[in-house]
Amino acid sequence: MAMTFAPVRAAIQGLGVCIPTRILTNDDLARMVDTTDEWITARTGIKRRHLAGPDESTSDLAIVAAERALADAKVSAEDLDLIIVGTATPDMFFPATACLVQERIGAKRSGAFDLLAACSSFVYGLITAGQMIQAGVVRRVLVIGAETLSRLIDWEDRRTCVLIGDGAGAAVLGPATDGRGIQSGMVGADGSAGDVLKVTAGGSRMPITNEAIERKLHRAYMDGQAVFKLAVRAVPDLIRKTVERAGWRLEDVDLFVPHQANLRIIESMRDQLKVPLEKFVVNIEEYGNTSAASVPLALWEAVQAGRIKDGDRIVLAAFGGGFTYAACTIVWGR
Ligand code: ACO
Repeated sequence: MAMTFAPVRAAIQGLGVCIPTRILTNDDLARMVDTTDEWITARTGIKRRHLAGPDESTSDLAIVAAERALADAKVSAEDLDLIIVGTATPDMFFPATACLVQERIGAKRSGAFDLLAACSSFVYGLITAGQMIQAGVVRRVLVIGAETLSRLIDWEDRRTCVLIGDGAGAAVLGPATDGRGIQSGMVGADGSAGDVLKVTAGGSRMPITNEAIERKLHRAYMDGQAVFKLAVRAVPDLIRKTVERAGWRLEDVDLFVPHQANLRIIESMRDQLKVPLEKFVVNIEEYGNTSAASVPLALWEAVQAGRIKDGDRIVLAAFGGGFTYAACTIVWGR
């Protein structure tokens, strides 16, 4: 009998996270740099952040999140066809962190690669994996956003060190049933704004030398105000277009899960889109900016809190260094 294969959407079948146990409060930071709990809370909405221990690397966090996501999806590691790790803080240049995860979880049949779109990496990864499932190239993909920004930050620079946290979130993607799954996705970039958020030294342009270390060029540099403006200008429009491509109206969306960089950025997006407060997930208070891990962490928390049910219309949206942007729409459920 002849069989036809209709393109199938990709659904999130399981989620898992890894939240490091070490906590750094604003008061702890006020003892390290010239800052206060009041300043950090008022300007960013952050109260605490979780940091990886000295022996914990990005892959260690990724593996914990991955195993929890596989258990949640009831999928065995051997059933995975592909692992994508979105990260700007890999264990090392190569092998890719995805290969380290592949080995440690025993995903023997799986391909593996890293994807770097800074804080947008997880959403970029979901869209990439979703398309590969839809094209029939792969069936089950593990998409991970994992980050140890604490290793890149200058802990003497109050402009950046108060903002970040470490963590990992993972999603198992597989073929969706009954119209659920990823409905639309958009990725964008503006390389002309690459200088607003960067780590200058450590790559082929400028290897790490004593001079680079003295000038702290191996640490993350950020023009905070420029990042702020780029994000509030670009992301609402990206969300509008992605929602339109799904054939939805903004009012149809049950929950928005934005990248958690600054509470004021999220509030500005919410105001521009004229969406009620309760439709935006905000957990920045607890984690700070965990870069690629932020969207899966926020999504996981929303699921845990019972804020997402089968059939709900969800929007994920992120922005980050590069400059990069990504958004996708999902009808929740397997
Ligand atoms: N504590 C106290 N004062 C501070 C601190 C701090 N931690 N950081 C900066 N200040 C001071 C500044 O030196 C400045 O003082 P001055 O007026 O005497 O020069 C004053 O506070 C105001 O600084 P602004 O930069 O104007 O403050 P702003 O309101 O723009 O907030 C912030 C800064 C929080 C960084 C904001 O711009 C922001 O969130 N931007 C987006 C950041 C982001 O999303 N980054 C993404 C990735 S994070 C990463 O990868 C490092």
